[in-house]
Amino acid sequence: MVARVIPVDPFDLVVFGATGDLARRKILPSLFRRFADGQMPPEARVIGAARSPLSPAEFRAHAAEALAEYLDGVPPDPASMAAFLERLDYVALDAGDAAGWQTLAGRLRDDVVQAHYFSVAPALFADLAAGLDRHGLNRPETRVVVEKPFGHDLGSARALNAMLAQHFDEGQVYRIDHYLGKETVQNLMAVRFANILFEPLWNARFVDHVQITVAETVGVDGRGSYYDDAGAMRDMVQNHLMQLLCLIAMEPPHRFDPDAVRDEKLKVIRALDPVQPGDIVRGQYGAGNGAKGFAEEVGNPGTRTESYVALKVGVSSWRWKGTPFYLRTGKRLRARASEIAVTFRDPPHSIFGEEAPWRANVLVIRLQPDEGMTLRVMIKEPGPGGMRLKDVALDMSFAEALGEGVHIPDAYERLIMDVIRGNQTLFMRGDEVEAAWAWTDPVIAGWSERGDRPHPYDPGSSGPEDALMLMHRDGRRWREIR
Ligand code: BG6
Repeated sequence: MVARVIPVDPFDLVVFGATGDLARRKILPSLFRRFADGQMPPEARVIGAARSPLSPAEFRAHAAEALAEYLDGVPPDPASMAAFLERLDYVALDAGDAAGWQTLAGRLRDDVVQAHYFSVAPALFADLAAGLDRHGLNRPETRVVVEKPFGHDLGSARALNAMLAQHFDEGQVYRIDHYLGKETVQNLMAVRFANILFEPLWNARFVDHVQITVAETVGVDGRGSYYDDAGAMRDMVQNHLMQLLCLIAMEPPHRFDPDAVRDEKLKVIRALDPVQPGDIVRGQYGAGNGAKGFAEEVGNPGTRTESYVALKVGVSSWRWKGTPFYLRTGKRLRARASEIAVTFRDPPHSIFGEEAPWRANVLVIRLQPDEGMTLRVMIKEPGPGGMRLKDVALDMSFAEALGEGVHIPDAYERLIMDVIRGNQTLFMRGDEVEAAWAWTDPVIAGWSERGDRPHPYDPGSSGPEDALMLMHRDGRRWREIR
């Protein structure tokens, strides 16, 4: 099945931090794919901006290397690659130095969409925002894209929002949470709101509990000092898992429109119960399988930062009161597997007798890898021997259902094109981020007040043993990570 590609309007996209890791791994490859698919029009241009004194030709060579490395093993077609590289330009720019800004201003075109991607350390955001203003590059329709981490706590997130608000309207600011750009994450909304089947059951009366898992096999991957400061709660729960929870728990917005969707997500965050200390388990991976342990990797022998966290969260709303949400995420786990599992309650009465084996219906939405959905249902086991029941999986892999060769785009492909289209639905609004920090901060403060240490776990395992107890004591169990 060939997807219909609607080209976006011509644009000038300035990527600040264009020689950095995110640009190499994600932004340039994503732009290339959109170009090769015909979505990025031939008049569009990408202007790299960074401190390195590169010429445009040197930047193109740098981009070509990044593409060769990060296009997931698919060698780029040489003609598309050459045409794409022609769309790239480069300006050496130091945020505090007027010369670079003037050169940049001279390269931008007035009659196309202008977007500025801050793919730099958050400490530089203020200088970039001020630079855009000072050099006449902040027009009412100019867009700025801000990468995570968006603050370190509520205070810093507020300060960042206030700084952005001095220069831009909220409608100009695109705060990235790349989980929102993942196809299957968007599919959560399609499954819930484009089908009649699930919504009537989507509440505490019928849903026993929800599990949200984002398991990774990688460690901290050379980002030791950032990660040691952040930990899994700030790095993953405050943003990515929180967004998943919102999409599962929110009320139907009246339209698929940026503020309608974000208003509903915000209501969920505000309805989250404070997490009790006994409802959260932190873990830290040790050394093993020839790999360093977390403390050694981050270069901090006494570190108390968590590389794993599991928690039970309540949502105080009419829809969800009484249905716990169990969240877990961690690094160096057994498998890379992200999924949401909605476990339904048992039927009120079994006509097959008390002793008939019973397994609850579960709807599993697999986010990655092998994106798809599974619904576990009870059926009669075929053959003689009475009414024997069995639970089976109604299984759908999106790749199979949509046909071979369907390309599931990287989150950044979708998000960057949405910036150009001016659609903020999949970007976080300032108040949403602040509400998420307001909920996260007391949890983290509690750990330091109590001097909690994370529980050790073996690399390649499912996380610390204590995380199992979080479910067992409620008579439930985590789904296996595999
Ligand atoms: C990032 C985190 O936001 O998300 C990383 O900072 C994490 O620590 C990554 O590895 C996970 O993203 P994905 O798309 O690989 O699931």
